[in-house]
Amino acid sequence: MIKLRGVSRTFGKGEERTEAVRGVDLDIEEGEFLTVMGPSGCGKSTLLSIVGMLDGEWKGEYHFFDRAVHELKPKHRLSLNREYVGFIFQQYHLIDSITVYENLEIPLSYRKVPPKERARRVGEILERFELQDKQRSYPGSLSGGVQQLVGVARAVVSQPRILLADEPTGNLHSAQAREIMELFQELHREGTTIMQVTHSDVNAAYGTRTVEMFDGGTLKRL
Ligand SMILES: Nc1ncnc2c1ncn2[C@@H]1O[C@H](COP(=O)(O)OP(=O)(O)OP(=O)(O)O)[C@@H](O)[C@H]1O
Ligand SMILES: [Mg+2]
Repeated sequence: MIKLRGVSRTFGKGEERTEAVRGVDLDIEEGEFLTVMGPSGCGKSTLLSIVGMLDGEWKGEYHFFDRAVHELKPKHRLSLNREYVGFIFQQYHLIDSITVYENLEIPLSYRKVPPKERARRVGEILERFELQDKQRSYPGSLSGGVQQLVGVARAVVSQPRILLADEPTGNLHSAQAREIMELFQELHREGTTIMQVTHSDVNAAYGTRTVEMFDGGTLKRL
């Protein structure tokens, strides 16, 4: 499904220059549940946004199914992201000027899901995440934990083929974290490909393969 070859990403120039990801080779089969671990600053989030087709300022080769992502124009890369990817950001990235309900509708509107079906799917996900009483709230008024739940709900509402999760339970208490991991396990069983970044061995144990990242480079199988 995913094949990266010699992928590198640098930020800044001169003395400020940081090579966040260097020469990464990575293959992900459809249906895998991959965990990426590694120390803070080693490039995990940077790698995830490349795989999620949110970033285009990298060098190397990236094949997604039969598509050469490194040859795509930003517009076409973004449409692949919208069609295939659900992304859970480390810092949530919810839109503060619209309600929780409207945030959850966005991925469905990108996929041109008709309004009636959209309302049904958002209703279902609000119920599943016990967020019904928060649907008219603006994200900025909610706690970090609730924002994280909304971020997870937004990523899964459109039933993406690949789910990319950056520390998805970092702000949740352990019972909520377990529920999220059980949801991932269920999605994985249903065929969703998952790549998660975590510092938690408990979360990693839900996956089928773990790699460790060092200084932006080598991925070592654990
Ligand atoms: N937008 C950016 N501009 C400049 N430097 C950046 C940017 N994003 C990341 N970096 C740098 O790239 C390196 C890798 O960052 P990244 O966020 O990918 O690490 P991480 O493994 O996700 O860390 P953490 O576990 O703390 O989330 C760091 O040195 C970071 O400072
Ligand atoms: Mg990170």
